[in-house]
Amino acid sequence: MGRIGILTGGGDCPGLNAVIRAVVRKGVNRYGHAIVGYRDGWKGVLEGRTLHLTPDNTSGILHRGGTILGSSRTNPFKVEGGVEQVKHSLLSENIDSLITVGGEDTLGVADKLTSEGVNVVGVPKTIDNDLSGTDFTFGFQTAVQICTDAIDRLHTTAESHNRVMVVEVMGRHAGWIATYSGLAGGADEILVPERPFDIEEVCAHIRHRHHRGRTFSIVVVAEGATPREGGETLRNQDKDAFGHVRLGGIGVWLEGEIEARTGFETRVTILGHIQRGGTPTAYDRVLATRFGIAAIDAVEAGDYGVMVALRGTDIVRVPLSEAVGELKTLTQDLYDSAGVFFG
Ligand code: F6P
Repeated sequence: MGRIGILTGGGDCPGLNAVIRAVVRKGVNRYGHAIVGYRDGWKGVLEGRTLHLTPDNTSGILHRGGTILGSSRTNPFKVEGGVEQVKHSLLSENIDSLITVGGEDTLGVADKLTSEGVNVVGVPKTIDNDLSGTDFTFGFQTAVQICTDAIDRLHTTAESHNRVMVVEVMGRHAGWIATYSGLAGGADEILVPERPFDIEEVCAHIRHRHHRGRTFSIVVVAEGATPREGGETLRNQDKDAFGHVRLGGIGVWLEGEIEARTGFETRVTILGHIQRGGTPTAYDRVLATRFGIAAIDAVEAGDYGVMVALRGTDIVRVPLSEAVGELKTLTQDLYDSAGVFFG
């Protein structure tokens, strides 16, 4: 019987509460552990802000988006004395091990803390699906569904007005959301960070399609996509604690360029944080629940420095270092499949 901490860090995503519920339910009822929730990711660990989690106070949250614990993009390695503060905070709560639910940044911290002797088990979360070591992260499928629903809706209004619709979706470094939702929504062009695009080629595809008798087009663009000649489109120059800039604006840029170059009326829709909000799909609820159970099982087995992961249909454990070493970008094969429908 131990005291196990849990935190959710980085950008929130649907399914976080399902992980928390599963960890608590199995951790308390089967293993007899006490589960201590940390508020607002690593920030709450640094500040020693906790919430005692029980099967009672984590009941009824399975279907709820967001995270009852809160989240932040705080990086203890960027805070003076941060690592010592984390260790001290865990010690003062008598925490034996810590389950960290996060993406590349939060799990990157978890990996470094493993080298500092902290007992950590990671759970992969991000709507971007760009974390290595796992086939899928929870939250991704929900985001794809939200984008697909939006593309379906944009289709009908595009058709009525003979317009080109540009849909900007999330995806800082990887075009998973853009490609999956573009494929599912029947996009006529998909632009992703992994493949800088030629704006003239994009316009040629649209012209070609319209010459074939189509009167509208749908272009899905990931926020991190870049034209061949230029860099990322930024909201401003500010960086967060993990060095990320705030992206945004590529959709607006495309709207202007496509309309000017093709003469077809063009409109942009930026889906933004709608993609991260609301209720998780059934798939994500199940995946998040399985991850939560696997995480508390890893703790029980004393297997630390690992991340639970989906491989095929199995949940396995992989070293945290493998998960955070390199981003998982789009496969050529998937992008080629989407390309069959361009233009
Ligand atoms: O990492 C997930 C993500 O949703 C990215 O797709 C996006 O670029 C970023 O978070 C947005 O971050 P924030 O919520 O801090 O604006």
